[in-house]
Amino acid sequence: MSLSPLKNQTKSKIRVGILGCGAIGSRIAKSIKTECGPQATVTALFDINPAKSENLQKHILYKNIIKKSYQDLLSSCDLVVEAVNAPDTYQLVRRALLAKKDVLVMSVGKFIEGESIFKLAQKQGVRVLIPSGAIAGIDAIKAASLQRIDRITLTTRKPIYGFADNAFVQERRINLSQIKKETILFDGNVREAVKCFPQNINVAATIALASNSKDKLRIRIATSPEFKVNSHEIEVVGEFGRLVTKTENVVCQDNPKTSLLAVLSAIRTLKEYFQGVKIGT
Ligand SMILES: NC(=O)c1ccc[n+]([C@@H]2O[C@H](COP(=O)([O-])OP(=O)(O)OC[C@H]3O[C@@H](n4cnc5c(N)ncnc54)[C@H](O)[C@@H]3O)[C@@H](O)[C@H]2O)c1
Repeated sequence: MSLSPLKNQTKSKIRVGILGCGAIGSRIAKSIKTECGPQATVTALFDINPAKSENLQKHILYKNIIKKSYQDLLSSCDLVVEAVNAPDTYQLVRRALLAKKDVLVMSVGKFIEGESIFKLAQKQGVRVLIPSGAIAGIDAIKAASLQRIDRITLTTRKPIYGFADNAFVQERRINLSQIKKETILFDGNVREAVKCFPQNINVAATIALASNSKDKLRIRIATSPEFKVNSHEIEVVGEFGRLVTKTENVVCQDNPKTSLLAVLSAIRTLKEYFQGVKIGT
């Protein structure tokens, strides 16, 4: 356990802005009061779909905090929670860092080649927080990455219906109804994987960033009629030894594409940010 001082700790309140009021942004906003202590307050909501921010405001205790633009949100908070599904997420986060805001990033996949954004954060004296998401072992992978890593394999298993509208499956004319036992749909590197299976991008990017070993990361994607939930199994072999973890994820009720554990890991990351206590590496 390590204590990491917060740059804003001397302020009486740290103002949180929620960028994207969908499933994750809403769950996080609702939990700030109960999980993050008296120092934390939500002061800004922004979503390109105004119905989303209006709906969220009805369900939280903070009032009159809907902003008309992203710029307004940036002017009204110290910490931005990025939870958008936008094509320009990278630029949105960049703008927050330029405005010297700390940022919790959910759309990790947009930062798989994100060296320059992390350098910018360092230059601006602000922090980028990346939750571990729907996987286990990120703490150990970070520690292991200080020495040689030989290989990393992520095996994602999903029920058949999870691939019903996947372009890769359709292009290859894979007949999902013919699959009777565990079948590997994809086996390749992370760059190909994020193109063919964009839904997997956040998990793959989180491992790639934590390990600093993107080129050693192999992604396997499998399905079977026997799979009832989405699971992620990670194997890492390196100088430290060998690690194997597996999560079997329940989905978030508000968005079946999001795992509950991903939302909980974001809330926990914020809790540690506000408490100045970080458990794990
Ligand atoms: N890190 C992880 O483990 C993890 C897990 C699940 C999802 N995610 C990512 O988190 C993000 C949010 O997921 P979600 O389930 O809440 O999605 P969601 O679709 O429920 O909500 C996204 C919201 O963003 C809004 N939005 C889109 N573009 C915007 C813009 N330019 N400005 C403001 N608002 C905008 C949408 O209107 C929507 O309300 C996605 O990028 C998703 O890939 C990450």
